[in-house]
Amino acid sequence: MFGIIHDYSGFLYLAASVLFILALRGLSHPSMARQGLKFGIIGMTIAIVTTLANPDIVSFGWIIIAMVAGGIIGTVIALKISMTSLPQLVAGFHSLVGLAAVCVAAAAFYNPLAFGIGIPESIVISSRIEMSLGLVIGAITFTGSLVAFAKLQGILSAKPWSHPMRHILNLCLAVGIVFFMSVFVYSESDMAFWMALLFGLILGITLILPIGGADMPVIVSMLNSYSGWAAAGIGFTLANTLLIITGALVGASGAILSYIMCKAMNRSFISVILGGFGAEGGSGAVTPTGANDKPVKIGAADDAAYLMQNASSVIIVPGYGMAVAQAQHALRELADLLKKNGVKVRYAIHPVAGRMPGHMNVLLAEANVPYDEVLELEEINRDFAQTDIVYVIGANDTTNPSARTDPNSPIYGMPVLDVEKAGTVLFIKRSLGAGYAGVDNPLFYKDNTMMLLGDAKAMTEAIIKAMED
Ligand code: TAP
Repeated sequence: MFGIIHDYSGFLYLAASVLFILALRGLSHPSMARQGLKFGIIGMTIAIVTTLANPDIVSFGWIIIAMVAGGIIGTVIALKISMTSLPQLVAGFHSLVGLAAVCVAAAAFYNPLAFGIGIPESIVISSRIEMSLGLVIGAITFTGSLVAFAKLQGILSAKPWSHPMRHILNLCLAVGIVFFMSVFVYSESDMAFWMALLFGLILGITLILPIGGADMPVIVSMLNSYSGWAAAGIGFTLANTLLIITGALVGASGAILSYIMCKAMNRSFISVILGGFGAEGGSGAVTPTGANDKPVKIGAADDAAYLMQNASSVIIVPGYGMAVAQAQHALRELADLLKKNGVKVRYAIHPVAGRMPGHMNVLLAEANVPYDEVLELEEINRDFAQTDIVYVIGANDTTNPSARTDPNSPIYGMPVLDVEKAGTVLFIKRSLGAGYAGVDNPLFYKDNTMMLLGDAKAMTEAIIKAMED
């Protein structure tokens, strides 16, 4: 059986690659995402079975142990993880791809015979180049992803590390890497191999540490891209065409996503790749909130119900807090009630609302919110001025006007939803605390803002009840 599969391995790898492309296409829209995932699962099953049919495999023992252990760990994590923790999980997985690239490069360097790339001290030159690239990209991905994980998990502060010498340090590390890679390719020196690895590991840290909280989405997609290129590097070392294709697909799609994110966040793509952005805003802009004495208008569910029932148009702005509270079903119920009363209801989605790309779209789709009511920032931003009520539910940074008005703010330049232009802003959150970027939101203190302090789901349900009474 394995013999027949191996005979058709070229065709099967091609089929798996096509399925991966269809998976990526499916994942580009919530309505096709399930279908996309199915394509991905079928493609990966074909890829694994075809690889296992390789007659060069001498023993299945370790492979089976690794697959069972990895399968169990992956299943437990997937069952336990909450959707709001997915970005750090993704960052953690990227770090493992980077580590795998480093391990494969080291294994190939010390046992080239097993990889068919020559004998010790006489490795084929093209393999030395591929190996050193896989090693360095893998090392940067490994430590960079660990730092991203620590920031997203709250182990490290989301505040940017803005040492004035960081660009020079990064430049020195990059020059050092090129130098040691060249020495390694030329002489196959042990020392050059390990020094390139060390410099790569340090560069991963110094590239990601300066990134501020609000810019983490771009970094996660950039590391996604790096992990793809690291996997492609492993593919070259292992002479596995499917791994090269898959790595290139992940690398390219991650780079495209980073580019889209950069545009959405008004950041320079080149600066992102070089890791030197996100820290340019003045550090003094990050102020602990809730501690100042500015007057705040605080309302109750009854007030919100009255205002919304008498509105002719409402725009709902969901954010991370809606995901935490799992308020999407209650929100849909509220929207249905408003529509029954003749109110025009739409949803405004910021590209980085929540904690992963498309986070809000997925949650709203789960609650069966019609897709045509869900609009992107550039489609709806002009309409706030003609809207009676904006219902901000668990969003914060994505509505913060200081991104437009305060050049010292770490989020300065990021496009935000212009919610303050509406007649009244109803702001649901539990306190006057800051959002993910740690920046005070002046919107809380505006005359046309009413704070509804409480859990997003409980408050929405209370408003529904008040409307029904
Ligand atoms: P955030 O700015 O993170 O603010 C969310 C707000 O929700 C918090 O201020 C919090 O205030 C409130 N909240 C939390 N739990 C709540 C609950 N149970 N009920 C009601 N409110 C609750 O949200 P955002 O506007 O969606 O912005 C996202 C931020 O995350 C951006 O800075 C973005 O750059 C960053 N980020 C995004 C991504 C992606 S790809 N989307 C990835 C990583 C980081 P209280 O504590 O006062 O309730």
